Amino acid sequence: MAIKTTLKMGDPLLLQQAAPVAAFDTPELHDLINDLRDTMIALNGAGLAAPQIGVSLQAVIFSVANNPRYPDAEAVPETVLINPTLTPLGEAQDNAWEGCLSVPGMRGLVPRYTHLRYQGYDQFGNVIDRTVSGFHARVVQHEVDHLWGILYPMRIEDIRNFGFTDVLFPQLDSAAADD
Ligand code: NI
Repeated sequence: MAIKTTLKMGDPLLLQQAAPVAAFDTPELHDLINDLRDTMIALNGAGLAAPQIGVSLQAVIFSVANNPRYPDAEAVPETVLINPTLTPLGEAQDNAWEGCLSVPGMRGLVPRYTHLRYQGYDQFGNVIDRTVSGFHARVVQHEVDHLWGILYPMRIEDIRNFGFTDVLFPQLDSAAADD
């Protein structure tokens, strides 16, 4: 277990399609998940994808519980999601501001599907199959995008809605604005 260096936008690994995880419940996979969890917690992130710590595998973790970076966000249980499949439920989308540990100090207004089914596995190989909405659905879409080589600025429809957190949201305290 360790806190890993987070790759920043511009690193070509963040633009790669990640490979599926081939075997569950292995020491290597547990080490990877522990590194993701430690790094996410240390950086106060809502989620983290394996490519962000330099591992091009289809594994993400997310967890939101009274996160100071997202003071108004609903809680999302800690979830490890491997080899995911996302199925939007309906056409409805909404826009909200997102940040990313690979794009520090910035926020952008990003459309995401409002209602979503996601399927995959945890690190032990147990099936995950959930239907979610709102912020939970947004976090999943953001993290899984990392596995397809997509960073949230690529989803912004009007690039004028992209900027520095401390300029866009000067009322946030410095810790929250630090991404
Ligand atoms: Ni991100």
